[in-house]
Amino acid sequence: MYDHLTLIGGRAHPQLAADIGKFLNIPLAAIEVADFPDGEISVKLNQNIRGRDVFLIQPTGPPVNDNLIELLILIDACKRASAERITAVLPYFGYARQDRKDAGRVPITSKLVANLITKAGADRVLAMDLHAAQIQGFFDIPFDHLVASPILDEYFASLNIPPEELVIISPDEGSIKRVLQHVEHLGGSLAIVDKRRSSALHTRQANLIGGPIEGKTALIFDDMISTAGSIVGSVKVAKEHGAKKVYVGTSHGVFCGPAAARLREAPIEEIVATDSLPLQADQQFDNLRIISVATLLGEAIRRIHRNESVSYLFD
Ligand code: R5P
Repeated sequence: MYDHLTLIGGRAHPQLAADIGKFLNIPLAAIEVADFPDGEISVKLNQNIRGRDVFLIQPTGPPVNDNLIELLILIDACKRASAERITAVLPYFGYARQDRKDAGRVPITSKLVANLITKAGADRVLAMDLHAAQIQGFFDIPFDHLVASPILDEYFASLNIPPEELVIISPDEGSIKRVLQHVEHLGGSLAIVDKRRSSALHTRQANLIGGPIEGKTALIFDDMISTAGSIVGSVKVAKEHGAKKVYVGTSHGVFCGPAAARLREAPIEEIVATDSLPLQADQQFDNLRIISVATLLGEAIRRIHRNESVSYLFD
């Protein structure tokens, strides 16, 4: 059914790679990935991939540096094994928040990561919900950028919240454009939280622009939840302004550090995230719903492999 298509899953998210394989009805390639005693990574491809169209599935979430280096080593292995084309599939792109010089003497690490992936030998990239869409421009190779919002919206639409009772909240001014897409799909009004970040771990939110939200159901969408400081701060603001119920939607559940503890305590009906990243055992909580993007990624892989349009998947 697929000529020369090979799927390879790194160790970052074996379940997602397996689910994509299941959707496409092709087995994952036989590979061995292990750690040397000193922490270096060893990779061996146990099957011939000469002339194949290879898709390497490896979100670069925590442990970010290990997963990134493993991706680079896998690309190198495929290149040297004479793969015809290598696509790095990054359901989550780590270091995306370091995409500009926002202070003196700081790096642009997203650009460095783009250089590394390209230099290692990737021919193209397939990613989903980059923190900043312009990161695509850091690559001089073809880049397909998927969005999970239709999948999240499908779930929230199933809750049948009347638009006049719905307010969709952007947790900061940087997310307004993204959040407006949800407003278009789900109806409701828009409100924006005024967020100030004091450190990587702490944010301060107080004001709400827009509304009123008194007695309404609030949906807060963020591209990622990392320590959950931003989202929990927004939930607090929504509640202080009289929201009756608060739901949270996110593409990337990074859930690191204090995230689980913060989210467990927050007055949230449900947190809905995609499976772009694996869920760590200690980061589980009761009101978390995971929606799979395996079909979205699988369909994109199928289309890229067959040189069909991928833009159809943006809706
Ligand atoms: C920031 O611009 C992002 O969109 C997220 O709001 C932020 O990175 C989430 O991080 P945390 O959960 O640690 O507040």
